[in-house]
Amino acid sequence: MTEGSFQSRDSHDGDEEIWLRRARAGSVPRHVAFIMDGNGRWAQKRGLPRTEGHRAGVESLRAVIPALVNLGVPFATFYAFSTENWKRPAEEVRFLFDLLVQYSKEDRRELMERGVKLRAIGQVDELPRAVRAAIWELERETSSGRNLTVNVALNYGSRQEILRAVKEIARSFVGGEIDLEKLSEAQFAAYLYTAGQPDPDLIIRTSGEMRLSNFLLWQGAYSELYFTEVLWPEFRPIHLYKAVVDYAGRRRRFGGIEA
Ligand code: FPP
Repeated sequence: MTEGSFQSRDSHDGDEEIWLRRARAGSVPRHVAFIMDGNGRWAQKRGLPRTEGHRAGVESLRAVIPALVNLGVPFATFYAFSTENWKRPAEEVRFLFDLLVQYSKEDRRELMERGVKLRAIGQVDELPRAVRAAIWELERETSSGRNLTVNVALNYGSRQEILRAVKEIARSFVGGEIDLEKLSEAQFAAYLYTAGQPDPDLIIRTSGEMRLSNFLLWQGAYSELYFTEVLWPEFRPIHLYKAVVDYAGRRRRFGGIEA
């Protein structure tokens, strides 16, 4: 990554600055989750192979992380590879893993400088060894980041996550460690990958699709959903700020009534 690309990611044009100020003036979510959709369509529209869409998608990720820090959002989750994504051609799957390894090397220093702590969530132990090693290294090197915690969902599926929690709870029950009658929602959540983190206030999905696709089903029970036609490789900080302004204008009732 060049110094130049670094600067352009930090510079705001006029509109972006206005939307950033608007977003900061309202209620800023504590956790924003992203379904980064539309990479393939972005590439196909340009007559490029789908994999080029994923490469461009990494640039969006690189632009959005500093924007989250600017806004003061302390937690973010990015859906990078789902448990269903293994159904894609082997070449595409390999490309995605290579991108991840490359990203972990190229961006480690910047993440550390920005105080970003990176964690992988999902069945990471099933990923190829080189990917696991890259993640482990990145998690270790960024572990002292205090500004923003970024979860990268990798080989992640929400049903799998919930089932895994249920199995662990069953094991704890058999071991006599928990009283099922007293098991609360908060205790259950402690068995999920996102233990200790606030639930996402806002889930953003790009590319016009309106589904959760097995993403944060427990954690997203009361999340505000934001769908945009923008394809993920075109998603930039201004789109994030607009989503946050929209979020701030919503009335969240959590099943109750207006005060
Ligand atoms: C969905 O677009 C996107 C993905 C399955 C992959 C998302 C991954 C990245 C943006 C790269 C992440 C990399 C790192 C380093 C974390 P799609 O291919 O389903 O698009 P389509 O719906 O247009 O076909």
